[in-house]
Amino acid sequence: MYKTHYCGDLRASDAGTDVVLAGWVHRRRDHGGLIFIDLRDSRGIVQVVVNPEDAPEAHAAASDARGEYVLRIAGRVEPRRQGTENDRIPTGAIEVRATGVEILNPAKTPPFYINEDADIDEQLRLKYRYLDLRRERLHNNIVMRHRIVAEIRRYLTDRGFIEIETPVLANPTPEGARDYIVPSRVHPGEFYALPQSPQQFKQLLMVAGFERYFQIARCYRDEDLRADRQPEFTQLDLEMSFVEQSDIWDLFEELYLHLARTVRPDLNVPSPFPRITYADAMRRFGSDKPDLRYGLELNDFTDLVRETEFAVFRGAADSGGAVEGICVPGGAEFSRKEIDALTETVKQLGARGLVSIAYTAGMEALTEESVRSPVLKFIGVDLARRLGERAGANSGDLLLIVAGAGGMPAKEPGSAGRVKPSLDALRRALAQKLDLADRNTLQFAFVVDAPLVEWNDEEDRWDAVHHLFTSVHSDDLHLLDTDPGSVRSNAYDLVCNGWELSSGSIRIHRREEQVRIFELLGIIPEQQQERFGHMLEAFEYGAPPHGGFAPGIDRTVAIFAQETDIREMIAFPKTKSASDLMTNAPTPVDPSVLDVLGLQLKPRTARDGQ
Ligand code: AMO
Repeated sequence: MYKTHYCGDLRASDAGTDVVLAGWVHRRRDHGGLIFIDLRDSRGIVQVVVNPEDAPEAHAAASDARGEYVLRIAGRVEPRRQGTENDRIPTGAIEVRATGVEILNPAKTPPFYINEDADIDEQLRLKYRYLDLRRERLHNNIVMRHRIVAEIRRYLTDRGFIEIETPVLANPTPEGARDYIVPSRVHPGEFYALPQSPQQFKQLLMVAGFERYFQIARCYRDEDLRADRQPEFTQLDLEMSFVEQSDIWDLFEELYLHLARTVRPDLNVPSPFPRITYADAMRRFGSDKPDLRYGLELNDFTDLVRETEFAVFRGAADSGGAVEGICVPGGAEFSRKEIDALTETVKQLGARGLVSIAYTAGMEALTEESVRSPVLKFIGVDLARRLGERAGANSGDLLLIVAGAGGMPAKEPGSAGRVKPSLDALRRALAQKLDLADRNTLQFAFVVDAPLVEWNDEEDRWDAVHHLFTSVHSDDLHLLDTDPGSVRSNAYDLVCNGWELSSGSIRIHRREEQVRIFELLGIIPEQQQERFGHMLEAFEYGAPPHGGFAPGIDRTVAIFAQETDIREMIAFPKTKSASDLMTNAPTPVDPSVLDVLGLQLKPRTARDGQ
């Protein structure tokens, strides 16, 4: 028998019990006579004491053991001597007095410390991921992931949802990324696409009459990777028939509150979740995934600057752009260097600069002496006051303003190209600098009424903002032909602390409506038939009204674990260049494999090799 108990389960009530344990040497201290071993298994750590007088053979084996050796230890659980208890670990009231120690397998010295939460080179962590996963933080993250997924399955099963698997070897489902493709041997020259999401299948399951479907579904997207994006990731994919948007929002609000209560009852989760429109989110926060834990809302100054001599402001206003800014309470104290750093932040998002105006008096008493700004001589005290009034500035506050000329992306009609994204970045940077975002709060919100389409300048066509199966907001149907850019859709997101956790929509379920959207998106009839003929046909066989949602599991669990990179929540993640440093995937294949598939590689050019 390898073990009678798990190390991490032993408690004071086990005192007097004879146990057999098996696990890894977390730490070993040799006190000349006594040897102390912290033995670790999947459930935690317990202290083992080996006394040469009680058990000379065990002591000899313990002397040979080193960090990460695998041991089997027999012994008796005893209360620790008074004053030596350790209340930082659950097993800290007891220790195991060893009668036998056996080395099951020695271990090389690991390339990094497993018993410390130190900063370790990311490459090394990924190469030795199986050792990285032994570390407490990662281990707990993976366990939390399991608990969340298990709760989701239980919660939805209790509410009549059934889990159905859908194909991984599939046809392309456009979600805005490139497909990973798989060549077919049986059909030379033809390819499967790995699903970017099970979108089409879940809608077809509604046509098939299941009414309440979910799946913990793996999705694949070849796109630029970031802290919140992996090439393969997991969604809680869900679809329901005969529902309205609010049914879906209510279901998910309850689910997320349930998850919070179950896995992180210590966190503050305000409810009900606010429901804000996309237009309001963009106007107030410059983002469709605003962090609502703090204010720092945007102010639109465009109408105030039309008469100013200051060419940067006036030029932006005159060319259909925008002049907007954030009031930073107490920010008048910021140094030149601090403002320069914030300027860098907005420049990275495409803004040309950041105008600062510091106030050292209230608006009613403002004079040349109580305004500090590099542009004061152009804007004058009067405009400085009106800007301050608009933003609700007080003495000691700082206005930070971005002006953007021209270019109105359809996604945000009425505002200039880079103004919103740069102020969004500025808002986040300020919140971090001023420590405004409470770490222990999860502020969820639904962002609703997203636009249906956005203009794609490069391709000269409209693109779906959510996806092309999303239905049109009933109040905006009349605008479809005349002003598609201002048409709202029945699409919605769940956001939390500045992350987009989930997207979904009420779908189109009638053939003619779907064709109309395909036409708007410039998909010609042959392509409609070739790519989506099965969907159009299915809609002719009694498709029920339906809608769904798809939270990213990786992001959801990261939010609950308070991690900032989803890789910390994935057992075997990929690097930012989509490779696996442990298995070395992707790897070249043998030419004979390509041959069978009827494929031939193009010679690599110097550029390919970069
Ligand atoms: P969408 O494309 O918005 O919608 O994706 C839904 C959610 O999936 C997660 N997600 C990702 N997580 C990690 N890495 C990625 N590369 C990645 N891409 C997306 C996010 C996101 O909010 N079929 C629709 C949903 C629907 O309409 O029901 C869809 O996939 O958390």
